[in-house]
Amino acid sequence: MIDNVIQEQQQAVQAPAAEGNNYKLFQQEAATLTRALITGYQEAFQLIYLDPPYNTKRARGSRKHYRDKSAHWSEQLHEVVSNTYKLLRRQGFLVLSINQMELFNLKHICDTVFGSECFIGLFPVKIRHSERQLMINATYHDVYEYLLFYRKDKQTRFYTEQKHPRLEKFDHRIETLTDQPERRTIQGKEIEIYHPGQYKIHREAPTVHNLRRYIIAGKLATANWSGEFFERHLRPLGDNLLVRVPGLENEGLGYRWFQTQTAKRSSGVYFQSTLTAGRPVLPTNDLDFTEIVPNVYKEGGEGIDFKDSKKPEQLLEYILSITTQENDLVGDFYGGSGTTLARCIKMKRSCITSDNGVEAISIITRRLANLREGKDIDGISYDFTLES
Ligand SMILES: C[S@@+](CC[C@H](N)C(=O)[O-])C[C@H]1O[C@@H](n2cnc3c(N)ncnc32)[C@H](O)[C@@H]1O
Repeated sequence: MIDNVIQEQQQAVQAPAAEGNNYKLFQQEAATLTRALITGYQEAFQLIYLDPPYNTKRARGSRKHYRDKSAHWSEQLHEVVSNTYKLLRRQGFLVLSINQMELFNLKHICDTVFGSECFIGLFPVKIRHSERQLMINATYHDVYEYLLFYRKDKQTRFYTEQKHPRLEKFDHRIETLTDQPERRTIQGKEIEIYHPGQYKIHREAPTVHNLRRYIIAGKLATANWSGEFFERHLRPLGDNLLVRVPGLENEGLGYRWFQTQTAKRSSGVYFQSTLTAGRPVLPTNDLDFTEIVPNVYKEGGEGIDFKDSKKPEQLLEYILSITTQENDLVGDFYGGSGTTLARCIKMKRSCITSDNGVEAISIITRRLANLREGKDIDGISYDFTLES
């Protein structure tokens, strides 16, 4: 059955944008399914999120017969993580949820498979209030769970939002008065030098087309590429010159203007365009879900009160937003109550999910019905096709 489904899905994965998103649910053991998927889905997943049993000694949740500890936990995880590596695209991410019991063991497994250089970081997730201590016999009150982030290629960055430049600073405009500037080659760059009288620098109302002026002093002179270039190569050219250097600001104008020092100002200056002035807002690993966790049982609508470490949808939203884009394919092979699948539907990502438990599969199926019928807590109804 899996082979058939894999063949059908192969085409859809190749053209996800045209076909819309695809959702699949399997009742299957994680190592077995991930091994089977390698046939049709090698390098197809942008994100694989794994939330395995934490290997505690406790019988968890409502299913008292179900023991969270397995004699072969490490071996199984090793196989799943190894298969995951093959399933991920080159620019893909692996994210794992775990508590402190097996954190280092799991990190060792992932380091062995991905290489420790592909470990991005540990994101502690605060899930309990410090003062609400329920297990009075414990040695200490544990308030964190953890996310381990890996990337397949150590160059891959998270998707980030871009912070807009502060427009009020962009109030300089450069006017050149000759099309015959002096030309020289410095460090392989064809630079143009405008002498006094051959240019004007205007200060006017800020616009996106104007430039921001930076004095090359302090760190800008020693630890900034443009500043260092100025100090080494442009300062010696002399005072009062306007210099156009190509090959800087490549993602913006493709060149950068400098003005050399004057009798009154010993520092040089350079001008930046708005195109390169924004900067990424990096994701942070300061995650506090203490206010959200007590209400997680309501998520997914009625009948989705899953006791086995059900994750908040907001946590999955965060992970999906920094590791994936619309139409990407996401995998979760310890699906539980279907949190990842539900968030993927809401965020227009394709998703293959599975769980080996009958109860989990029926809860996920109910959650999907709730989503279709607008009975999820956000009250929106979603249209999607589920295959299995
Ligand atoms: C921690 S829960 C996942 C919770 C899920 N992230 C959510 O938000 O609801 C772990 C799930 O893994 C399933 N599971 C345990 N061992 C498994 C295995 N070897 N293969 C597949 N699923 C397994 C359990 O049935 C359980 O539903």
